[in-house]
Amino acid sequence: MEEKQIPAHIGFIMDGNGRWAKKHGMPRNFGHSKGAEVFKKTINWCRELGVKCATFYAFSTENWKRPADEVEGIMNLLRRYIKDIRTYAKDNVRFIFIGDISQLAEDIRLELFDIMETTKENTGFIAGVALNYGGRDEITNAARILAKKAVNGEISPEQITENSIEELLYTSEMPPLDLVIRPSGEQRLSNFLIWQAAYAEFVFMDVLWPDFTKKNLEFAVTEYSARNRRFGGI
Ligand code: FPP
Repeated sequence: MEEKQIPAHIGFIMDGNGRWAKKHGMPRNFGHSKGAEVFKKTINWCRELGVKCATFYAFSTENWKRPADEVEGIMNLLRRYIKDIRTYAKDNVRFIFIGDISQLAEDIRLELFDIMETTKENTGFIAGVALNYGGRDEITNAARILAKKAVNGEISPEQITENSIEELLYTSEMPPLDLVIRPSGEQRLSNFLIWQAAYAEFVFMDVLWPDFTKKNLEFAVTEYSARNRRFGGI
């Protein structure tokens, strides 16, 4: 495949962990644990295919509504994976945690800030992990910052452009989002990268996230490469 046919940035909605666990007669958190293993493998598969950046939807601003033991289970998974993330960091991977991570437990938050700081010069691959992330929240936050600047007289309302909003999004240092992959049979964006996905391609798949394989990824990339992206042109 030519380089332009390979998406530079893929967004993954890691959906179907709960259904996968149910299917195997296991608690929901067992599904999340399997899902986290696939998250790790997917970073490698993306690199092998020449993808430059991948962002994973791990926890949304709406996921706090889940039962406390499930939320705690996902947070504990994160604690466990922080060590693995540090191993990837040694492999020239840059980690960017997108979302309002200031609301996470202090031990997690400090680790995440530290990982972002220590990996920021890594150039091999960018792994985005969305935690306490919501697309509307992200855009609202950018609007609030710009409104404050306008009120303070630092900018005029006319100076607010798509670029000035984009620069305030968590993804400002990532390549444009080319492809969103959502397994599990659901066909919606669920508040994930809603601004960034304006011209992204979507591939929805029936596989549940814990069963997602490199073959599934290759299928989605092949499907992407066959699409005719016109960005509003002809
Ligand atoms: C959606 O499936 C999945 C989540 C809300 C959590 C995803 C989190 C992980 C895979 C763990 C992330 C960990 C790290 C280290 C990044 P669902 O629970 O909505 O599944 P269902 O629709 O089948 O119920």
